[in-house]
Amino acid sequence: MENCLEYHRATAHTFESVRRPHYLDWSNYPSPYKFYPGVRKFKLLPFSGLTQETLDTLYRLCGEGVTENLSLQELSNLAFAMNGITKVENFHGEEFGFRTTPSAGALYPFELYLFVRDVPEIPDGIYHYQPYDHSLELLSEGNYFESLQTALCSTVDTNVVAVITAIYSRSAWKYRTRAYRYCLLDAGHMAGNGVAYLRSVGLDATAVSLFQDGLLNSLIGVDGREEFALCALLPQRPALYWGEEFKLPEAFPASLPVVKKPVVYPEIEEVHSLGNLESCEFYRSIPASPEYFPETSSLELGKTLLKRRSRREFTGKPITFDQFRFLVESSLLCFPSDWGFPLTNFYLQVKNVEGLSDGIYTVVEGQLALVSPGDYSREMAYLCLGQGFVAFANVNVVFTYSFEDSGCRRYRGAVMEAGALGENLYLSAESMGLGACGIGAFYDFDLQSFLSLKEEELPLYVVSTGSL
Ligand SMILES: Cc1cc2nc3c(=O)[nH]c(=O)nc-3n(C[C@H](O)[C@H](O)[C@H](O)COP(=O)(O)O)c2cc1C
Repeated sequence: MENCLEYHRATAHTFESVRRPHYLDWSNYPSPYKFYPGVRKFKLLPFSGLTQETLDTLYRLCGEGVTENLSLQELSNLAFAMNGITKVENFHGEEFGFRTTPSAGALYPFELYLFVRDVPEIPDGIYHYQPYDHSLELLSEGNYFESLQTALCSTVDTNVVAVITAIYSRSAWKYRTRAYRYCLLDAGHMAGNGVAYLRSVGLDATAVSLFQDGLLNSLIGVDGREEFALCALLPQRPALYWGEEFKLPEAFPASLPVVKKPVVYPEIEEVHSLGNLESCEFYRSIPASPEYFPETSSLELGKTLLKRRSRREFTGKPITFDQFRFLVESSLLCFPSDWGFPLTNFYLQVKNVEGLSDGIYTVVEGQLALVSPGDYSREMAYLCLGQGFVAFANVNVVFTYSFEDSGCRRYRGAVMEAGALGENLYLSAESMGLGACGIGAFYDFDLQSFLSLKEEELPLYVVSTGSL
């Protein structure tokens, strides 16, 4: 494999590819939890106190915050907002926990690690967040922030840093080679929830996608192949740091395998490694905040996070122009990250929005532009592999990416951006009493030609939103 355009093309769904027989091996169903038997555990505090309004928080994601240490309550809230369990269902006689963050096929390939210092109730150390019982598992005691700065190529001035990884075999169990896309989208969703939480309590927040992979992976005890770091969440703006000092824990505790029989997809390991960085020779650009914040009224962020689900029961009833405007503006206009926002373009297939003609829209220099008038709801549902509820959405957002630079680190950023903005759409919709659902399953090339995209511009993700 030469580059990420090749990977993306090779993992496209076509009419023929989705009809080839593929059986799910239920005897090898992946565990959604990573267990470290015998490690010291610290129970976190229950999720509470997030009273900031959701829409206002989303509009201000790129705004200025403060850089301050997090309390144990804030650390607990951050972990829960990113990966807590918000619904338990019985699944073949076993309890199954659905999370704050959505995930393709509910396979939850992501894991969350936390670097902590100066939180009085718990020792300094490197921790793994265990969603199963909302606790922190101590992987190595000590202050590793000097090494973390070297790995992240950034100064760290606060006491908590979160790192999101993916164990790709969970997602590949169902989605095979296409799973790398879902690992990135899911990680973007998780970063979206973390950023929203930090901004809601007035802290600065940046999703950091540029770091030295080998160093960061070794610092959390993962091999960079089966499990790899995708994004770090800093409660501050990153300032470039060229450090030499790097100290590793002597040993990491062993974890249980997440699948009984190993699943290896060389294409995924290769495409990921093509994007790896081994130095701090890169340029970080953090987007500036939009200056316009309208008066909004929506659910508190804490309640939105607890209530968020993937909604597939849209009624098709009209939404108001203000609902449409708040949805689009609060979700899509900015995300505090270092990957070079905006990397994605988006197209909106609109139906039944008061004061707006049905049709396909895009945004040109901050203005909505009608590309093609008409009702395209049935075409969109067909393009999303015939998922019928898509036809009842008021707004289907298609995220696309121009592969002019087919470098794999930029691709990682673009797909995570689509996931992060997708999470904004979920939170924004849910906070206004509307619903959203991520759609990773679509006919890539048919959607590309439906939108009349150039040859090197391809869809990454679709998110459906609508009235309930
Ligand atoms: C990247 C991604 C792709 C998804 N693709 C689809 C899809 O094609 N069709 C669908 O009905 N749901 C899709 N979902 C929704 C997941 O099925 C859902 O998040 C998961 O079952 C967990 O449920 P919850 O979101 O209600 O917590 C997707 C979610 C994500 C994050």
